[in-house]
Amino acid sequence: MEQQILFTNDICEALKDFTTKILHDRLFILFDTETLHYCLPVVTPFMNDYDMAHPNMKIETIFIEHTDQAKTIETLTEVWQALSNRHASRHSLLINVGGGMVTDLGGFAAATFKRGIKFINVATTLLGAVDAAVGGKTGVNLGSLKNEVGAFAPADAVIISTKFFETLDHVNLLSGYAEMLKHGLLSDKQHLNDLLNYDIEHWDTETLLPLLKTSVQVKQQVVRQDPYEKGLRKALNLGHTFGHAFETWCMRNGHPVLHGYAIAWGLVCELIMSHQQVTFPSQTLYDIANFVKENYGPLNITCNDYPAIYELMTHDKKNEGDEIVFTLMHNVGDAALNYTANKEQIGATLDIYRDLMGI
Ligand code: GLY
Repeated sequence: MEQQILFTNDICEALKDFTTKILHDRLFILFDTETLHYCLPVVTPFMNDYDMAHPNMKIETIFIEHTDQAKTIETLTEVWQALSNRHASRHSLLINVGGGMVTDLGGFAAATFKRGIKFINVATTLLGAVDAAVGGKTGVNLGSLKNEVGAFAPADAVIISTKFFETLDHVNLLSGYAEMLKHGLLSDKQHLNDLLNYDIEHWDTETLLPLLKTSVQVKQQVVRQDPYEKGLRKALNLGHTFGHAFETWCMRNGHPVLHGYAIAWGLVCELIMSHQQVTFPSQTLYDIANFVKENYGPLNITCNDYPAIYELMTHDKKNEGDEIVFTLMHNVGDAALNYTANKEQIGATLDIYRDLMGI
């Protein structure tokens, strides 16, 4: 399950190297319509060189829509169909170039096509680099339920380059940063403080890179020990029980938000619960809540919205039986797994969340 993860700005060289090492009969590259504009030019020299070197097996490109709304079984079928129409075999190799939507869907397509072909992820967003592209979770949404259908399937290699982040706007960078905050909470106080003190307004990639590398290492260490989420990996779900419910709720209300925004709000809620149930220190809760309020703003909810949010939580993949399951934190670096909360406790948490966010 150990994945090769390479941090580099020479993406073409990295692709040349990996495609030489990973034996294959045909090579496919999956892009989305967004990466088509910004990222295709970055990998074009690799594609040209590859085609020159392999005149009888030119690269096949596949394009899909870039929005999370397109992360569906229909889009997945299009990818399977494209692979099939163009004679992909069990020995073909797929390169997914994009954010979490492309690596999740492309990874699932690769994991299932002819019962599984090899694939490489090239993460083009901060969110993808710190989370989606790494660790082997793949899948698609089912209606508005996030990642409801999927498989554990690690990429054979992951390429991460800060070069791509230059094309990201502030909100997309913040979206990825929320998962980095989560990793900060799961690691240690030093890394968390470094994250809280990073000059997030200016996004200097040189100072971001060491934080990014640590963040990916935090995830890798967890995944290495528990690839199939039998225990320890549940720690990575911190913020996601509330977070996924918020994300789906916003989508259903016609005001979709970026994944990381929902996770940032979810982190605040689950740290409130951590404080109440397992004595997570209040000062760290306030530090995180202030950081989220300042940088992400609040999710505006009223108590009339609580039943709908609760209802969505009842669908969470992490639930067992009728219990809604949360990952909480005893303290920074000390996760508390398999905690549950009832409807009243969830409502009380949302009350405190609204207080902390000033709504
Ligand atoms: N995104 C959480 C995990 O990969 O387990």
